[in-house]
Amino acid sequence: MFGLFSRKNRKTKIDYTLVKTDMHSHLIPGIDDGSPDMETSVALIRNFKELGYSKLITTPHVLWDLYKNTPEIIGRGLDRLRKALAAHQIDIEIEAAAEYFLDDHLLDLLQKNERLLTIKDSLVLTEFSTMHQSMSMKNVLFDVQMAGYQPILAHPERYVYLYKNWDLFHEIKDNGVLFQLNLLSVTGGYGARVQEIARYLLEHDFYSLVGTDLHHTGHMERLKTLEIPVKLQELLTNGRILNNSL
Ligand SMILES: [Fe+2]
Repeated sequence: MFGLFSRKNRKTKIDYTLVKTDMHSHLIPGIDDGSPDMETSVALIRNFKELGYSKLITTPHVLWDLYKNTPEIIGRGLDRLRKALAAHQIDIEIEAAAEYFLDDHLLDLLQKNERLLTIKDSLVLTEFSTMHQSMSMKNVLFDVQMAGYQPILAHPERYVYLYKNWDLFHEIKDNGVLFQLNLLSVTGGYGARVQEIARYLLEHDFYSLVGTDLHHTGHMERLKTLEIPVKLQELLTNGRILNNSL
């Protein structure tokens, strides 16, 4: 009975002004599986501002089998988006980086010494398949580091094939990879197992960054009423989560 009210399970409404900067979303229209058109993008960004965010670093997928996005394509999309926001008098700072899928294309970019788009300084947002475990997880992240970047692992809690493989999570973190929580993972929005992994990683201080990973209006609706664990609220207020320095 008392367990229901334990500190671990207590939740509180999120204060987005504490997060300040969202660093993971898919808001450039038509170039990945995020916003399909400019009208939707403008409406979503208006919502971000209403939530309390003051800056967005949007991160289109670079996943070569599906989304062949280059810095040029992303840069052009960002320009169009900024113009639309100005036309609608929506005043919010917006930048673009990318979410790099750790595939052969990325290894190729690293080998050729091509420039990667960074969240800030050397921070690069990376992701693996959420379906199948890559046997070279640690090696690929190491390659990114060797090329001079600081990898951020997007939504580690969504890699359910790593459920209870806590040693591997610890090893990746100990190697210097930063962990980014998807905010909606704490609600069970991606399933109970994802929520359970998120809870473990949160309680063990893995996360340095949080992101919405917003793709569509459904995500926005859930963000509007989001309640987060008290532990996350503490990390946001005591400066352990780095979003507000981006
Ligand atoms: Fe994403």
